Amino acid sequence: MDDALLRARAVLASARRVVAFSGAGVSAESGIPTYRGDADSLWSAGNFERFANPRGYRRHLPESYRWYRERAIAVARAQPNPAHHSLAQLEARVPDFTLVTQNVDSLHLRAGSKNVIEIHGHLRDARCDDCGRRIPWAQAPDHHDCVCGGMLRPDVVMFEEMLDERALARAQDAARRAEVLLSIGTSAQVWPAAELPLIAQESGAQVVIVNPDLAGQPAGPSVIGLEGRAGEVLPRLL
Ligand code: OAD
Repeated sequence: MDDALLRARAVLASARRVVAFSGAGVSAESGIPTYRGDADSLWSAGNFERFANPRGYRRHLPESYRWYRERAIAVARAQPNPAHHSLAQLEARVPDFTLVTQNVDSLHLRAGSKNVIEIHGHLRDARCDDCGRRIPWAQAPDHHDCVCGGMLRPDVVMFEEMLDERALARAQDAARRAEVLLSIGTSAQVWPAAELPLIAQESGAQVVIVNPDLAGQPAGPSVIGLEGRAGEVLPRLL
């Protein structure tokens, strides 16, 4: 990896416009399971059908509400790892830096990153599907009934739901303008988020991928693959 690491360091050192695009792998070393890959993954077994889309969520209440509430409490207890800290430090030295994260765990914000687009929402609050009221999960009831009589749900984007249009447009614009896009810890399977590295690539950016498994990731002359765990590779890179 050393040659690739040196090349990635060189392109980053001179870049003025950088986008970091992160996925669940960035938080794996903080003890938060990823979505795909092994038996402990969040979308393993029946979880995807029960919890990943709004129909499954409604059908499996109150279990689905409690599943998200437990996840929210678990991520609030987790701590940012060296990957999150490295990205916060990178932001301080790049004039135009945008961090687009698919993660809902708030660990980038807690590590000090500022210009963060949470493209799939977050697990800080429960939200009423009817009146829009938001309640921090730590104060949320143990059942899904809102005081208005509506249904509480997580403030995340589920499958079959639209991403926030303005957040997506900002992320795409940043990818188009980027000189370097770092894609870290994502399987790059979920659209439209997964299009961001391709948008950057097509716009002439250098794409640097950090992942222990480079199979299935974007490839080509403008892509540098750094094989390894984010918490180890990012501190060395930055
Ligand atoms: P995935 O679970 O699909 O992919 C996790 C990626 O992280 C894989 O490519 C792993 O190889 C990699 N990985 C594992 N450990 C790592 C480590 N220590 N360092 C670096 N990489 C590591 O997660 P995402 O790509 O984030 O959306 O999934 C995208 C979206 O799918 C999520 O935002 C979520 C999910 O459905 C919604 O819930 C809407």
